[in-house]
Amino acid sequence: TVRVSLSDTGAIVAPTLHGVFFEEISHGGEGGIYAELIQNRGFEEANIPPGTTLKDGFIFPPATPHFSLSGNAVSDWKMEWPNHGEFPAWTVHANGNAAISELRTSNNPLNDATPHSLQIEISKADAANTADVINEGFWGINVQANENYNLNFFLRGNYKGQVKALLVAQDGTILGSCTSQVNNDVKWRKYVGVIKAQKTDTKAKFVLRFDRPGTVWLDFVSLFPQKTFHNRPNGLRQDLAQYIADLKPAFIRWPGGCFVEGITIQSAPDWKATIGPVEKRHSTYSPWGYWTSNGFGYHEYLQYCEDIGAAALYVFNAGVSCDFRSGTFAPDDSLQPYIQSALDAIDYAIGPVNSKWGKLRAANGHPKPFPLQYVEIGNEQNGPRYAERYNIFYDAIKAKYPNIKTIASMGIGDVNDFTLKKMRRVDFADEHAYKSAGWAMRNFEHFDKYKRGAWDIYVGEYATNAGVGAGNMEAALNDAVYIMSMEKNGDLVKMSSYAPLLVNTNDIDWPVNLINFDNAQSFARISYYAIKMMNENRAGINVKAVVNIGSPVIKKPAFAGGIGLATWDTKTAYKDIEVIQNGKTIFKSDFINDLNNWQFVRGQWGVNSSDSSLQQTAEGAQQFEMLKNKSFETYTLQLKAKKLEG
Ligand code: AHR
Repeated sequence: TVRVSLSDTGAIVAPTLHGVFFEEISHGGEGGIYAELIQNRGFEEANIPPGTTLKDGFIFPPATPHFSLSGNAVSDWKMEWPNHGEFPAWTVHANGNAAISELRTSNNPLNDATPHSLQIEISKADAANTADVINEGFWGINVQANENYNLNFFLRGNYKGQVKALLVAQDGTILGSCTSQVNNDVKWRKYVGVIKAQKTDTKAKFVLRFDRPGTVWLDFVSLFPQKTFHNRPNGLRQDLAQYIADLKPAFIRWPGGCFVEGITIQSAPDWKATIGPVEKRHSTYSPWGYWTSNGFGYHEYLQYCEDIGAAALYVFNAGVSCDFRSGTFAPDDSLQPYIQSALDAIDYAIGPVNSKWGKLRAANGHPKPFPLQYVEIGNEQNGPRYAERYNIFYDAIKAKYPNIKTIASMGIGDVNDFTLKKMRRVDFADEHAYKSAGWAMRNFEHFDKYKRGAWDIYVGEYATNAGVGAGNMEAALNDAVYIMSMEKNGDLVKMSSYAPLLVNTNDIDWPVNLINFDNAQSFARISYYAIKMMNENRAGINVKAVVNIGSPVIKKPAFAGGIGLATWDTKTAYKDIEVIQNGKTIFKSDFINDLNNWQFVRGQWGVNSSDSSLQQTAEGAQQFEMLKNKSFETYTLQLKAKKLEG
């Protein structure tokens, strides 16, 4: 029986409850939602030996390697240097008797932002013996028959004749091509073409083919599908952008995450390097171990927010880098450039067209303000020093933009009242919550316990990502229950976003992600559909409800794999399980002792207890199957709890 009292109402559920969080992690942007098909288009990505001095004097940190994931669990993480080779994604090939030099960069840059270009010497070539410069795309180029692809590249050098751009299938079939006439360009010249594909291959490659001797410099080679989300030039991949749009997010947080912090303060992203002509944008090294060309930049992000009716939530660096790696920071008395950068970013998004940055926004094609409503001051910083820093940014922002909501980062873990009280005023405190399977069921009262203060809560990153493989039904149930606990506390928790949002399955930096894709396919995990369902059917208001589940009543059931109810403590672990089929006990005993005969091979067992040392979960799929005497039998299981724990 569910007794609902419509006159006894509680908190309303904020319409802003569900947003999304984009980060440049796992190639979510570069080789992900950003539709560019050429990897390393400016020749800036390279395998960097530790200690190398890069642009801006930033020394590539010697002892701060990249996290990578060899399996699908957090325990599979290992630290390593990414080995991209000297020219990730690029190779050369001589056909027949042609001769072409190895790849090498030159100090002959197209511009400051793209300091490396490719120098190619073709010492021998003719119509039958051609020399190829090849790009493999982001683990293949998805070429679809009858689609058009926009090509741009910059070239100069001692070469007079044709250069052919080809899309080539894995079996060597030419899927489409276009030709440029090159004329001994002393200065850099931009070549533009359109390739119409005749056939499909999702793992094609891009080839620039030379058919005569010469020396050329090549830079910024870009290939875009003509079809992008909302047909924006320099736009987004349709399927991925649509997945996000279908979630109907109230806001989009961008661009991270740890990405915002940078491995060092010098390598942290700078929004100003992400606007304007794409070939003039500096690239940024993501702490997740690869370069982004910043093609999906601040303007494109704001445009996307507008296109899908979401508010923008911009996270900026508070002068602190990803401290669990190398941890560099700007001292408090050197914060002015960071403050100015944040103010300028706000000005670019919403300033009037006669302001410095508003004018540039208009020049970039968008005179109207973008829907920027929130800014977050740093990512995952916390503590009294952060509080001081927050106040400095807060004062500067609110003085100029009183209507912009400021978000204080809280780090991973619960909102810390102690720190918050030292802050001037916090519109939202951002709690990050990566939890294990069953956590939300055991901690449904988590938000009930928070003191109501002068701030609201934004759960800026949440996910069930332990004990659930790469994500499964149990994770989705846990996420859904977590969302219900936020709804229940609608007076406090007004925003949330799952993280991470996107993963290219060829470069997995984080164990559980919402939308999985490679260069041609994509799918959303069950948690995506849980969030979508919760958002589309979002409760308006809490009402008092009393639930009587009849007899027998298990007052506080713990959770076991979504299929039955069981609980136990360490001493009786595995002993109190009874499996009943059609009213008959088919299995009852010490699980471990019976392992020879009975084995739960694909089930999930969540051991729940208020004592966290007792919590453990076996990984697997959702279905229970039992291995009995080496042959599989599938049972519907009822797990009878013999011991209850509050
Ligand atoms: O979502 C992945 C990472 O988790 C984010 O970069 C960081 O903010 C958090 O620790």
